[in-house]
Formats: sequence, C-alpha cells, structure tokens
Amino acid sequence: MRILAEGGGLSGEEAMADQSSAEPPRAANDPERLGQLVRDQAQTIAHYKKMYDRSSALAKIGVWECDLATEALSWTDGVYDLFELPRGSPVARAAILAMYEPESCRKVQELRARAIQEGGSFTIDAQIVTANGNMRWMRLTADVEMEGGHPVRIFGTKQDITEEKAAEEELRVLQAELIHLSRRTAMAAMAETLAHELNQPLTAMVNYVAGTRRALARGDDPHEIVRNGFDAIEASAFRASAIIRSLRAMTGGRATRREAIDPNPLILEAGSMALAAAGDGASIDYALGEGMLVLADPVQIQQVVINLVKNAIDAVRGSERREIAVHSRSTGDAMLLCVEDSGPGLAAGIVDTLFDSFVSSKPDGTGIGLSICRTIVESHGGRIAAANRPEGGACFTVVLPLAEVDSAGQAAQQDRDVNGEMRRASYGGGQLR
Ligand SMILES: Nc1ncnc2c1ncn2[C@@H]1O[C@H](COP(=O)(O)OP(=O)(O)OP(=O)(O)O)[C@@H](O)[C@H]1O
Ligand SMILES: [Mg+2]
Repeated sequence: MRILAEGGGLSGEEAMADQSSAEPPRAANDPERLGQLVRDQAQTIAHYKKMYDRSSALAKIGVWECDLATEALSWTDGVYDLFELPRGSPVARAAILAMYEPESCRKVQELRARAIQEGGSFTIDAQIVTANGNMRWMRLTADVEMEGGHPVRIFGTKQDITEEKAAEEELRVLQAELIHLSRRTAMAAMAETLAHELNQPLTAMVNYVAGTRRALARGDDPHEIVRNGFDAIEASAFRASAIIRSLRAMTGGRATRREAIDPNPLILEAGSMALAAAGDGASIDYALGEGMLVLADPVQIQQVVINLVKNAIDAVRGSERREIAVHSRSTGDAMLLCVEDSGPGLAAGIVDTLFDSFVSSKPDGTGIGLSICRTIVESHGGRIAAANRPEGGACFTVVLPLAEVDSAGQAAQQDRDVNGEMRRASYGGGQLR
C-alpha cells in the first residue's frame, strides 16, 4: 500500500493493485486525497476504455454476453457497430437471431445448445444481414460460464471478418480460374499435338485411296489393288489410333510401353511415311548401323523420325540440291541417329528456341514438331540436338540408350502394356512402302 505523493498519482496498474488490496487505503480518512485517488482511478479506467475501444474498432471486434436464465443480451459498441444498430439500444435475442442467414442461424443454435449442455465453447463464422441491409461475415466465439455446475451465461466476441471472407473468395475464384486456364492450356496443347501427329496417317490414307483409284483406272488386277489398298489404309488407321493412345498415356503421366526393338525397320518405315505424306519426290539416303536394340515405344520413335524427316523435306524444298540423309551408329551404350539435309540450315534467330513449342519460321507451321520430338526423346532417357553442318544444311542428332542384353542374349523388356493393335500399327506398315 502506498500513499499518493503530492501532485502525483499511481500508475494505472498501481492504482488497480491498490484497489484490489484487502487493506483499506490510508487516504480513506483524507477527503482530498480520497478525491484525488478517485479521479486518478477514473482517469485510468477512461484510459483503458479508450485503449479497449480503439483496439476493438481496429480489430472490428466487440464483446457480447447472454444471461441464460433471462436471455438478456449485453453488447459492447463493437457488436452494435457490426450489426449497424444504435450503440446501447436494447437488443432482444430473437430479433438478433432473425438477422442471421438461415443456415448460419441453424448452425449457431446447434453449437450453442451443445456448448450449454456440455459447458464448452465454440467458434463459428456466420453470415448476418445488418439493420441497414448489408451482408456481413462475422466470427463468433462463445464460452459457457458455469456456476455450481450449472450453465449461467455465455460470453464471447463477435468480429467483422467480411473483408477477410471477400479476400478468401477472391483467391478462390482466382485459383479456380487458374485451374481452368491451365486445363484449357493442357487441352489446347493436347489438341495441337494430336492434330499435328495425326496429320501424317490421315494424309497417308488419302494418298493410298488416290493411289488405289489410279491403279484401278489403269486396269491392273483389281483384287491385288484393292487388297493392297485396304491393307495400307488399315495400317494407317491402326497407326492413328496407336498415336492417340500413346499420346494419351504420355500426357496422362502413365508409362508408355518400352520394348527392346531393332530401330532400323522403324526408321525406314517412318522415312517412307514422311516421304509419302510430302509427296514431292524427295528421297532419303540411309546408312543405318546394324545389331542395335533400343528400349523404346515403337510408335513414338517413328513420330520422332517422321517429324525430323518432314522438317528436312521442308528444308530442301526449293533448294537446288535436295539431299536428305539418315544414318545411325552405336556409341557403346546408346544409338546415335542423325537426320541431315542440304537445305539452308537453321536460321540464326531460332537456334536457341527450336525445341520450344510454337516456334516456327514457316508460314503454315505450328512449331510443335520439334517440341514433340524432344518430349518423346527425353521420356526415353535420351537427348536431341540440332546444329548446322559445315558444308551447309542442318543436322539433327538423337541419342537413345541401348537396351541392356543379358548373358543369354535376351534384351530386357519393360512396361509391356502392348496390345495386338499397337503391334500391328507399328510393324504392320511393311505394305506402306
Ligand atoms: N531441317 C531444318 N532445317 C532448317 N530449319 C529447321 C529444320 N528443322 C526445323 N527447323 C526450324 O525449326 C522450326 C521448328 O520446327 P518444328 O518442326 O518444331 O515446327 P514447324 O516445322 O515449323 O511446324 P510443325 O509444327 O508443323 O512441324 C522450323 O519452323 C524451322 O525454322
Ligand atoms: Mg516440323
């Protein structure tokens, strides 16, 4: 216990501590000092109230209390402000509940009843419509006060969280838009890739139909012509469906099939298919190393070769020398495959971005051929690169790991989700040449 010094006063905490002391203040007998003490304490209380009011207003929070026996509510200013009701006006519980959105009201009632029954507490975000008709979100906390084992009061806070909810909603909408956008981008990329890769078998089918018609018109053996035509068209149709399946597996993140294959027949067939689709009399010189096995998806390997040869055909079109060469050799643990041409070579401005999507120097190019090649080659654990040849023209190099061959001379087989149709599609094209 301390006696106030002349002209001085206790700090807020000290004054409060004094008040809570069991011993009556010595100043109690001195009216002047007693008056001073009361004024100091009033000042302290006013100071604390001001701090409370300011922090409540800043946090948009108020305190509420409900007497369970009488249902009488008592609110601080923050709660009145939240409901846009005049501060200090009488509030009846039923009228306040009517300001809650029905679903929020139902949940609050449910939690309240349980808290009263169990003597617990709860927190809930509830929606209300204020006295002025504004929709607001409020975070309501409640704690049941017990006396002698019986619930007597609920006490808690109500905080305006409308802005927080609006920001959450904005974020949710943005996230949904982003997901939608990335799905659309993925779908667009898939559609572009499919269109690009299906172009070859579809063009081939049209060419076979035209070839069959021409042969029939020439009066060749119709049975032979029709059989060959059907076989070739069927093989192209199988190839188209194999491409679709393979791309779906690749974009869906599923394992595509891998088997130890001799790449040479696939390369020769792919070259022929690319030439057939171009249909402008270009030819290819092959020099393929023998005895290699690569662990690969045959359909995808052919897609790579077709795209590279098609680019080479495009490059030599209009050139005086129209040379395209495809050669391969083993580097010990990998196959090195080169597709070269005598065209104008890679344009300077495009060299660094060749393998990116939608990079094209051609008026009708989509610019995804090389990007598909890179995706396929890298998914096989290989590498693809491009360079200009010293003697002119471009050279594309693909490195693919060779399949491991065990002591019995058997190549390892992996991811054999192959089915009959795909096998026919990849190898059945013998008739296509
Ligand atoms: N053999 C080549 N010689 C010179 N430039 C090439 C060669 N191959 C590719 N390019 C360059 O790389 C670019 C990208 O090739 P890519 O195959 O990805 O797309 P594209 O051929 O333009 O169109 P598409 O998507 O229809 O194949 C080409 O536009 C071309 O500029
Ligand atoms: Mg291309």
